[in-house]
Amino acid sequence: MLSSKFALYIHIPFCVSKCSYCDFCSFVPKEKQVKDYINALKKEIITAGQRVGGRLVTSVYIGGGTPSTLPPNAIVEIMDCVREHFIVLNACSVTIEANPNTFDKNKAKEYMLAGCSRLSLGLQSHSPHILKILNRAHNFDDCEKAIQNALFYNIQDINVDIMLGVPNQTMKDVKETLKRVVKLPITHISAYGLICEPNTPLTRSIEQNKLSLPPEELAVDMYDYTVKFLEKNGFYRYEISNFAKTGYESEHNLNYWKRGSYLGLGLGAHSFLDGTHWQNTENFKEYIKNPTLCQKDIERETIKTAKEETIMLALRTTQGLNIKEYNEMFDGNFLQEYRSVLEKLLKENLIEITNGVIRIKNMYISNSIIAEFF
Ligand SMILES: C[S@@+](CC[C@H](N)C(=O)[O-])C[C@H]1O[C@@H](n2cnc3c(N)ncnc32)[C@H](O)[C@@H]1O
Ligand code: SF4
Repeated sequence: MLSSKFALYIHIPFCVSKCSYCDFCSFVPKEKQVKDYINALKKEIITAGQRVGGRLVTSVYIGGGTPSTLPPNAIVEIMDCVREHFIVLNACSVTIEANPNTFDKNKAKEYMLAGCSRLSLGLQSHSPHILKILNRAHNFDDCEKAIQNALFYNIQDINVDIMLGVPNQTMKDVKETLKRVVKLPITHISAYGLICEPNTPLTRSIEQNKLSLPPEELAVDMYDYTVKFLEKNGFYRYEISNFAKTGYESEHNLNYWKRGSYLGLGLGAHSFLDGTHWQNTENFKEYIKNPTLCQKDIERETIKTAKEETIMLALRTTQGLNIKEYNEMFDGNFLQEYRSVLEKLLKENLIEITNGVIRIKNMYISNSIIAEFF
């Protein structure tokens, strides 16, 4: 349940355009901002390497934003800087995110040279009308081409993101997207239920009744269908939103869910190291001015928060929460500590306990089940 691994997350906050639903720390940059950012990021990597570089890095995730919008050679420069200042495991998994329409053959070659072993593509949907609502500037063919480009340069571990519960999305749209996606030569699929983030154009359109979300019942059906269809086609669910062919689970995400250490580098990046959480500033100017001294919300974990986080993260996975491991980790007695909530959830048939492991039975409502523990 507890990972001893050490991961790096590198944030690239730039996109070609802003999607209607997205509130990630990302924007459409000016050329000078890109240059300034790469310099600041390298400065942060060097300083971080001096502080904590003695640990063995077991996975790297370059996310965003859209890393594939960076100018040629930037990813090689960034990864060279990482390898110079950190000890990186030879077989380290290096994932990079890309939009299907910003991932051509040159990018694929560059990422291969930078040592990227895994590609994550944001497809979202096969349906043009859904891509339009999401303000996505690509189509399904772009995604197929991007995958071919990656395979050409031997990047074979490929994830595709899709979204469920989008306004105007029908069950037919979901079925068509899934049917097409499982035929792609990929190893991993993330299926995210739309989160209506405040102050995004999509949420405003919903609030103004210009668009409406699919009814809750349909959203549940979409998720259930997705789980069953993907499992039937060789992608097994190992976390609420994540499905993989056997052996292709995301190493980086597994480390998060097992509460392993990770260092976030770049604008707005989160870190968890030596029992402390913090986040880099999300203010671009502030970051560029001082990328090594821009940490905020520094919070030392307590036994209570560590327990809560362990329960929350473990119950999101299909592996579940191992009671013996929990008891050893906290020198506690899980069954006694949570007796009343466990009795309630068992009675309502929302969880199961088998061979000393607790699992949630209906992942779709996992948030409300997990909330019962706090
Ligand atoms: C941070 S994005 C990075 C990938 C890349 N920028 C892209 O969008 O293609 C990772 C994924 O998060 C998902 N996502 C982003 N905002 C979301 C939201 N509000 N609700 C659900 N999923 C979301 C999308 O599926 C997206 O592909
Ligand atoms: S491309 Fe990805 S990060 Fe950029 S705005 Fe769209 S969802 Fe957000």
